[in-house]
Amino acid sequence: MSSASRITSVDEVPEETTFLFRVQPVDGDEQKEAILVRDDEGIISWLNYCQHYTHIKLDKGSGAELRNGEVVCTNHGAYFEVDSGRCSFGPCEGAFLNEIDIEVEDGEVYLVDVDYEFVGIGEIETADDDLGSKSNYKF
Ligand code: FES
Repeated sequence: MSSASRITSVDEVPEETTFLFRVQPVDGDEQKEAILVRDDEGIISWLNYCQHYTHIKLDKGSGAELRNGEVVCTNHGAYFEVDSGRCSFGPCEGAFLNEIDIEVEDGEVYLVDVDYEFVGIGEIETADDDLGSKSNYKF
């Protein structure tokens, strides 16, 4: 556990939605978003991208929608089983979300995936977001 990075505490992972964080692939690919979500066994982590259009985020910054133990992509209504990541319904039925390896110890959630490094919590900020927040402010 010494090389693992703490993501958050178990208490911070919501019951009804997802917890968003950022990871950096060690292969040099661009930064990605991931989610923590509760299942019957505890907490599991997936990359935050639908398998229909893989640039579409499941958690768009305020938590993904959960229905009956499944994460819903609100773009075209795909359902992903929380515990397996399998799309059970929708345009990408049968596809799987990409799992991120985490561990829970003493009430804390750690990233232990050798393919990713922890960057921080919350969504990836883009230049578009910056422009958007400033353009609403006029003098
Ligand atoms: S982009 Fe997710 S269902 Fe189409």
